[in-house]
Amino acid sequence: NLPNQVKIVEVSARDGLQNEKQIIDVKDKLALINGLRAAGVKHIEVTGFVSPKWVPQLADASAVCAGLTPDEQVHYSALTPNIKGLDAAIEAGIKEVAVFTAASESFTQKNINCSIDESFERFLPVLEKASAHKIKVRGYVSCVLGCPYEGSIEPKMVAEVAQRLFEMGCFEVSLGDTIGTGTPKAAQRMFALTAEHVPVDNLALHFHDTYGQALANIHACLELGATVIDSSVAGIGGCPYAKGATGNVSTENVIYMLNGMGIDTGIDLDKLVAAGRQISVVLGRNPNSQVNKAWK
Ligand code: HMG
Ligand code: MG
Repeated sequence: NLPNQVKIVEVSARDGLQNEKQIIDVKDKLALINGLRAAGVKHIEVTGFVSPKWVPQLADASAVCAGLTPDEQVHYSALTPNIKGLDAAIEAGIKEVAVFTAASESFTQKNINCSIDESFERFLPVLEKASAHKIKVRGYVSCVLGCPYEGSIEPKMVAEVAQRLFEMGCFEVSLGDTIGTGTPKAAQRMFALTAEHVPVDNLALHFHDTYGQALANIHACLELGATVIDSSVAGIGGCPYAKGATGNVSTENVIYMLNGMGIDTGIDLDKLVAAGRQISVVLGRNPNSQVNKAWK
C-alpha cells in the first residue's frame, strides 16, 4: 500500500529557526531557502507572520518574503495565526498560508493564547479573506501524539480538530507530533482514525524527532496511505511552547529512507545535504541528521 510519490513540505526556515535564540540574518535565511530550492524542494514554509514579542526570530517575516526568488515550480508558504498575520502575508505576496491549533486545550492556550473553539473563530475570517485572494490555507493540528501539558491525547480529539479544519476549507491538514513522543502503533491509530474523517491525500505528517521515533512513525503511516511529509533540513527546530521539544525529522533522513524504498520526491540528496551543512555552519553546530553526518 506504499505510495509511488511523496510530497515533502520543508519547514526548516520556519519551524527550524523559530526557536533559535540567536537572530539569524535575513540573507542566511534566504540562502537556506535557495539551497532547498536548488535541491528540488517544491514546498517551502518560509516564515510566520506571528507576534514578534512571542517569536522574535520571525520578526523579519516581511523582509524574508521580499527577498524570495520568484520560482513558478516552488510554493512558498507562511504561518498566519489571525487576520493581522494574513494581511501581512498578502502584503508580502505570499500565496499559501497556514493556520494552527491543537488537539489539546492547554497547548492551544500557551501557543496562541486562546481556546480551541476561539482559534476556529479567529480562523474563519482568515479562511474567508484568503479565499477571496485565491490564497490556499493549510491547517496544523499540534499535539496529535501527546501534549507537553496534558500528556496523552485521544485520537478522537485529533480526528475531530482535523475534520473541523478541513471542513472549514483547509486544503491540507498537517498532523503535528509536537513533542515527538509518538510510537508507530499509536501513530497508526491516530492516522487511521483521522483518515476516516479527512481524505488521506489531504493529510500531512509533521513529526518531531525528540525521541528518535519520527522515521518509524512516518513509515507506519506511509503504510496507511500517507503521501505528504513535513521535515526540516539538518533536523533543526523545536516549538517555543513545548519545552524540550527538538527539531522535526530531518529531511535528509526522510529522503534517504524514501529513496531506498523507491518512492519519488524529486529531491537531490547531495544538494540537500549541502543545504543542511550550510545552515548548520550558520547555527554553529553539527547537523542533527544521521544521513547528513554520514554522507560523503
Ligand atoms: P495575542 O496576544 O492573543 O493577540 O496573540 P492579540 O490580538 O491580543 O495581540 C497582542 C499583540 O500582538 C498586539 O501588539 C498585536 O498587534 C500583536 P501590541 O498592541 O501588544 O503591541 N499581534 C501580532 N503581531 C504580528 N503578527 C500577528 C499578530 N497578531 C497579534 N499575526 C498570537 C495571538 C497568535 C498572535 C500570538 O499568540 C502569537 O503570535 N503566538 C506565537 C505562535 C507561534 O508562532 N507558535 C509557534 C508556531 S506553531 C508550531 O510550532 C507548531 C507546528 O510546528 C506544528 C507542531 O509541531 O505541532 C505548526
Ligand atoms: Mg512543528
